[in-house]
Amino acid sequence: MKQNEWQNLGPIENFKKQPLTEALVGKKKVAVSYRDGKFGVVSGTCLHVGGPLGRGHLKEDYIVCPWHQWTYHRITGKGEPGYPDDVPQYEFEIREGRLWVRSEPVTKGNRSEHPPHPLTRPIERKEGPLRIVGISATAMDPKNPRVSTSELLLQTALDHASSQLKCETKLIKLKDLKFRNCEGYYSKSARACTWPCSITQMDKTDEMEQVYEALVHWADVMILATPIRWGSASSLFFKMAERLNCVQNQITIANKVLIQKKVAGFIITGGQDNIQAVAGQLLMFFSELGFHFPQFPFIAHSRGWSAEDMEHNVEAVIKSKELREGAEALMERSVELAAQFLGMKKVADKTARGGRKAHRLV
Ligand code: FES
Repeated sequence: MKQNEWQNLGPIENFKKQPLTEALVGKKKVAVSYRDGKFGVVSGTCLHVGGPLGRGHLKEDYIVCPWHQWTYHRITGKGEPGYPDDVPQYEFEIREGRLWVRSEPVTKGNRSEHPPHPLTRPIERKEGPLRIVGISATAMDPKNPRVSTSELLLQTALDHASSQLKCETKLIKLKDLKFRNCEGYYSKSARACTWPCSITQMDKTDEMEQVYEALVHWADVMILATPIRWGSASSLFFKMAERLNCVQNQITIANKVLIQKKVAGFIITGGQDNIQAVAGQLLMFFSELGFHFPQFPFIAHSRGWSAEDMEHNVEAVIKSKELREGAEALMERSVELAAQFLGMKKVADKTARGGRKAHRLV
């Protein structure tokens, strides 16, 4: 196509059938709108991260981007009042019932400066002792707390890390964080799933930021503790996992591995069983994020399918010296591996003793 030629986009009736249509002028996408008997043609590419404006919707005279809802005037391309982000506007004419559009826009558009989100800063490990984050995925009513066996063992492991292994520790209880469910930006397009999560960027009250900060920037080791719920990890784990898609997706869309030289271990407890399935799923998920695992990367406890005396379960865990030792040993293996990654220790020449079920053979 020659420079700034008129291009015939076809019968205007095609563009009157719906308020917004995506079309091509040469190789450029445009958003053709029709409302109150008037057409408008603006660039079809959102200035945020390239969402297809022609596939969005109209809110009065504004086009709403289908990815994260930035809005632009459908005729002038100007951002909503107060948002100086403007997409280019195109000249058009209607000739003999057909819509003709100039191949070059009549305005340049404008992308204002948006300060980058603090989480996008370069990932640089600060000097200091090894840092461990424990994440508890147990849900409970905060006004009427109860003992969680997985959280209890996680606390045991964290106490061991700070008192004996001289690590810095942090505990994040997902139940205390207010964060939204993943809203499926990835389902719109891989590029619509941004780092950090689009929700984190849009909603200052969303507290998933604390998990991103800990996993991507702060911790060397993460120990996740989850109960077993109907044979799977807890619903809070899955709520968090879905929001971590943006970490994995950076590998896909930006060739960026945000999690490097970090170690993950797991504590899994349940009244009934399915430990192996839960462990398998956690291992797969965190390996996709970039974590490494110590040998024997989880400890677990369950009372088995036919044990319905759950009122004894907490007591059984509290009394179990083996489970406490198991939690501490898991922490030691995880810390050891993290120390090797950071060059603080040589690679061990013998395999750690682990993998034992909690109770010793008699
Ligand atoms: S709002 Fe359009 S790409 Fe994000």
